[in-house]
Amino acid sequence: ETGCFTYDPGFTATAACKSAVTYIDGDAGVLLYRGYPIEQLANNSSFLEVAYLLMHGELPNKTEFESFEHEVTHHTMMHEAFRTFLYGFRHDAHPMAMMVGMLGSMASFYHGSLDLEDAEQRRLAAIRLIAKVPTIAAACYRYSIGWPIRYPKNNLEYTTRFLHMMKEVPSEPLELSPTAAKALDLLFILHADHEQNASTSTVRLVGSTGANPYACVAAGVAALWGPAHGGANEAVLKMLEEIGRPEHVGAAVEKAKNKESGFRLMGFGHRVYKNFDPRAKIIREMTHKVLGELGVNDPLLDVAVKLEEAALKDDYFVQRKLYPNVDFYSGIIYKALGIPTEMFTVMFAIARTAGWVSHWLEQQTDPEAKIGRPRQIYTGYAERDYKALDKR
Ligand code: SDX
Repeated sequence: ETGCFTYDPGFTATAACKSAVTYIDGDAGVLLYRGYPIEQLANNSSFLEVAYLLMHGELPNKTEFESFEHEVTHHTMMHEAFRTFLYGFRHDAHPMAMMVGMLGSMASFYHGSLDLEDAEQRRLAAIRLIAKVPTIAAACYRYSIGWPIRYPKNNLEYTTRFLHMMKEVPSEPLELSPTAAKALDLLFILHADHEQNASTSTVRLVGSTGANPYACVAAGVAALWGPAHGGANEAVLKMLEEIGRPEHVGAAVEKAKNKESGFRLMGFGHRVYKNFDPRAKIIREMTHKVLGELGVNDPLLDVAVKLEEAALKDDYFVQRKLYPNVDFYSGIIYKALGIPTEMFTVMFAIARTAGWVSHWLEQQTDPEAKIGRPRQIYTGYAERDYKALDKR
């Protein structure tokens, strides 16, 4: 019974869509991008090669990859009018607020020439988004700290180019360690796609109406921002800083078990994984390696390790199959790379753009695709008659 209506107890959520992009087995902790295990891609591939794989369905050969890389590099610049648009934001606006606006504004730059019936134009829109999102992300950050925007150095590879736009201060060239660029590229691979998560489902729902792909991705950025989703990496670091010391983790675990507290262990739990998130395992090992190679000794890593140990031993978490997810350790690496906390979710958005455009492209060529129209379980009043004002 829901108030006045009964509904079929067999009501089950139907699958949102069919897709061949990514496969997840939440119980076994398996994640495949176009059939390739995330562990193998993390150890052998690059983010741009993974972006090609997600978009096209196959790993590129040398010629295909060089051509793809050339196309992406050719589209890294943004129109100068973007600068005017960007400078209209409050300078201290959260970079994700700027990203939503800036990506939505891309629709105004390319809408006129975009014929979604044309496969080549759809592919070009996907390339433009993968190419320009790092440029826009770095511009949002630099504007927020009062630095001049830097143009992309197109002689650099994708992730290194982004770090140079982000961090190269006007006075001295950024000496980037290969470790930093490789670590960020690996994080981009791990965040590139994840089946029908909230932001990807948002992109597909908006795309199902025939909306402009730039508007679709802007909607995806907005969905990703929430702390229950992509915003969790920023929330994890704030949580670890609030816990402060390894000896305080027990109190945090107890607080998270008390529903009234409204406090949850950020970076724990997942809608699908009821086992370890395979990405979390890779990132945890990577965190120790990267901090070691960079000579960074971050006390928050000790807090994270102790918090994970305490939670994984606690029945409350074990019974609910709450394990660390992709966001639990990633913030510690971003911090070690000198990425500011407010940019953590922007990092996620840069990587997930590859997944968003791949799902959008897939949807555009699906002959069975229809406009998304989720239904509901109605819990309101049964039909009733209007009452005149003097009768109420
Ligand atoms: C991402 O979908 C994707 O694929 C997302 C993502 C991707 O790559 O796109 O993987 C990225 O978004 C990872 C998730 C990042 N979010 C967080 O780390 C935020 C903290 N986690 C939780 O808010 C929560 O675990 C969710 C939102 C991730 C999942 O929520 P669920 O599966 O809906 O779990 P639930 O709310 O139904 O909770 C089940 C039980 C509840 O207790 P009971 O009512 O059974 O007593 O577990 C408890 C919850 O209170 N619980 C937690 C908890 N998460 C769930 N208790 C403490 N801490 C937590 N983190």
